[in-house]
Amino acid sequence: MTLAELLPSIGCSTEPVLEEGLWPDGTHLSGSDLVIGGVPATRLAAQFGTPCQVLDEATVCNRAKAFVAALPEAEVVFAGKSLPCPEVYRWMASVGLSLDVSSAGELALARAAGFPAGRIVMHGNVKTGEDLKAALEYGVSRIVADSFDEIAQLGALARHGQEVMIRVTPGVDAHTHAAVSTGVEDQKFGFSLASGAALEAVLRVVEQPSLRLAGLHCHIGSQVRHVASYEETVRRMVGLIASCGVRIEQLDLGGGFCAPYLPGESSFDLFGFAQRVRGTLSYECALHRVPVPRILIEPGRSIVANAGVTLYRVCAVKRGVRTFVAVDGGMSDNPRPALYGAKYAVRLVGRGGKLRPVTVVGRHCEAGDVLAENVLLPADVHAGDLLAVPVTGAYHHALASNYNQVGRPPVVAVRDGLARPIVRRETEEDLLRRYV
Ligand code: LLP
Repeated sequence: MTLAELLPSIGCSTEPVLEEGLWPDGTHLSGSDLVIGGVPATRLAAQFGTPCQVLDEATVCNRAKAFVAALPEAEVVFAGKSLPCPEVYRWMASVGLSLDVSSAGELALARAAGFPAGRIVMHGNVKTGEDLKAALEYGVSRIVADSFDEIAQLGALARHGQEVMIRVTPGVDAHTHAAVSTGVEDQKFGFSLASGAALEAVLRVVEQPSLRLAGLHCHIGSQVRHVASYEETVRRMVGLIASCGVRIEQLDLGGGFCAPYLPGESSFDLFGFAQRVRGTLSYECALHRVPVPRILIEPGRSIVANAGVTLYRVCAVKRGVRTFVAVDGGMSDNPRPALYGAKYAVRLVGRGGKLRPVTVVGRHCEAGDVLAENVLLPADVHAGDLLAVPVTGAYHHALASNYNQVGRPPVVAVRDGLARPIVRRETEEDLLRRYV
């Protein structure tokens, strides 16, 4: 393999081309600068500082609209946990999506965005009394029950007719990382289909006079690549619907649709998903003689991941057996490599040069604070250089922490050459506010 062939597979290139499919729509090179949403990365870094999470608004909205276009008969529910931010929730409302929240906190953001309660679904394997009360008070349209305790608590708290869905564990292996594989038996989510617990949960909800069964829910995992996993889920869920003995109007298939993180990885086959799920659903419903339920899907990552780019400034370079390029962020803004072994591409903005493999590390006090291993950067990479990491729109802002009391970065939305923060940078004042 020549070096030129090798470079894209490792994730970086000095060629004036961008890795296909990873960057926000319309991202391009202008000289050696990287232009995102019409705004040069060097200008974004100068204006907003680094680290900086850049989010391309058009990419987010276009991906949301693509789900609606692919499945016009379905309700498309944005998984709010993937990028919790009122402005993003407003974009979702404006393109016709519903929203799922998994805590009173995410619901507070939805309220701040003025998101219509009738299009909000509340999730979570544990909802505290406060979560449930907040959901009931705002009037969220559906609450997805995840335990018998919760059904009882909800039955006692709810006013007449609160719509409830049952979260089912269908026993489908989505072939993804164990930490985000939620459709298999022997993990904390949902009511097992195989053990009969899901059917029992349906009966418990039906028995509660203050609750109304709206449908069944499942979510087999995240970063799911194979449409076949969803087909199998539909088969199992329709089998359950047939044994419920009550009409099931809605079937929520959850989210999990994969996003490409590295060159050569493909996007989720949305068109194939829509066709095959639609076909399997109508076939299975006819087979079991049950009415076809309305489908809901809950994409998060596949809408926002590739819309995000994080900019870092190089603070130090250590050359030894390996070359470590240390940046001004790290596991506080991206714990995904440490949590899931996630891999990222990295690009130096501003110049090219002869490439050498390096390890990009963060500023935190852990040897595991590594952002990207074995990526190719110009051999003369030095302090002051600007690095851009694509595919940081999903579960980056959401998972960010204050480790080492480092303030969390801003999220800066770009569109048509304009940039505006939609989450501001966390300051020392913010950090000090909580200490007594
Ligand atoms: N619906 C439910 C019930 C979920 O729990 C999730 C994600 C989604 C939908 C959206 O899944 P998505 O389309 O975004 O894959 N922190 C991990 C991902 C955790 C996913 C949690 N649940 C990561 O950074 O990879």
